[in-house]
Amino acid sequence: MASSSSSYSLLFLTLFIFSAISAVTSCPPSDRAALLAFKDALTEPNLGIFHNWTGNDCCQGWYGLSCDPNTHRVTDINLRGESQDRIFQKLQLTGYMTGNISPEICKLTGLSTLVLADWKGISGEIPSCIASSLSSLRILDLTGNQISGEIPADIGKLRRLTVFSLGDNAISSEIPKSLVNLAGLKHLDLSNNRISGNLPWNFGNLRMLSRALLSRNELTGSIPKSVFKMNRLADLDLSMNRITGSIPVQLGKMKVLSTLKLDGNSMSGQIPSRLLSNSGMGILNLSRNGFEGPIPDVFGAKTYFMALDLSYNNLTGKIPGSLSSARFMGHLDLSHNHLCGTIPVGSPFDHLDAASFSDNDCLCGNPLKSCE
Ligand SMILES: *[C@@H]1O[C@H](CO)[C@@H](O)[C@H](O)[C@H]1NC(C)=O
Ligand SMILES: *[C@@H]1O[C@H](CO)[C@@H](O)[C@H](O)[C@H]1NC(C)=O
Ligand SMILES: *[C@@H]1O[C@H](CO)[C@@H](O)[C@H](O)[C@H]1NC(C)=O
Repeated sequence: MASSSSSYSLLFLTLFIFSAISAVTSCPPSDRAALLAFKDALTEPNLGIFHNWTGNDCCQGWYGLSCDPNTHRVTDINLRGESQDRIFQKLQLTGYMTGNISPEICKLTGLSTLVLADWKGISGEIPSCIASSLSSLRILDLTGNQISGEIPADIGKLRRLTVFSLGDNAISSEIPKSLVNLAGLKHLDLSNNRISGNLPWNFGNLRMLSRALLSRNELTGSIPKSVFKMNRLADLDLSMNRITGSIPVQLGKMKVLSTLKLDGNSMSGQIPSRLLSNSGMGILNLSRNGFEGPIPDVFGAKTYFMALDLSYNNLTGKIPGSLSSARFMGHLDLSHNHLCGTIPVGSPFDHLDAASFSDNDCLCGNPLKSCE
């Protein structure tokens, strides 16, 4: 009797341990339920990426998912509609998905990566609970869909966020004030939406930011002076907005800024000399604004422009002679201004054609007609 009861307890103990182990080796039922609700709100007709979102363990074989090896919580949802993945190459299709992002996703509180990008047809709004619930989120990439509505007002609560991409959607809010609290943000892409209002005056609080892509929106106001505090900013794209005012002089002193696109706005004033003499600047597009005055004569042996586009402005005076000492000038466009005088000679000008200088007041010399 005694021995049989102890073998029973041994059996129960074994079963207990076994079930305890299997409980922590598959994903928590609550994570699984949240994922199934997320899947149910989406329709993906071409590739069947959700076909193997079945079975109890969402950490095993569910396409695009990763879990924490210790806690088995879901950490990554990584679903891209354009990718090098074999299933895309085999079917020769790019992804297409409709539906919306279920707020149930906010129950995946272990999530650090949420990528649902380039599916073209996902619509609806960003569940606002994301900002208050997903405090471990580092990457939020919803690029290339039809998401509308607002950027969650308390987005700044996501203190760990390093990548925030909503480009190519239909977001129509202003930039929330709390955005500047994202102290670790490195990459911000809000381009090609309908975002209106001004850039926050303290935008420069985003000290870690290296790329700020905000083109093709409806942004107004001027470039905040605080931008010059962004020591790591390499790429600032504000093109095709309704930005007014002049270029803050400090922009020319930024150490790592190498791409600056302000084209297609309503900016005015003169071009700061420091912007053109800054030897780190490689792509500068100021086209289609109301910039006036002369082009500062500050180029030199360290000048290395892949592209310098000053076309469609109100620039006057001569083409600076120092441009001929530039080390490299890949693409130069000075057309549609009010420049006058002789086009300098030198290697940077050898490969340029007449279009670079057309529609000015009275330029002459190669590649335009010779001066009298
Ligand atoms: C899950 O489905 C995807 C897409 O069909 C496939 O590439 C992947 O190999 C599948 N994974 C498993 C474990 O079956
Ligand atoms: C500069 O911007 C204008 C207007 O947005 C665009 O047409 C042009 O191609 C850009 N220049 C370069 C060199 O990219
Ligand atoms: C250029 O200057 C002229 C004359 O001052 C002005 O009428 C015109 O609006 C200006 N163009 C732009 C794009 O600012």
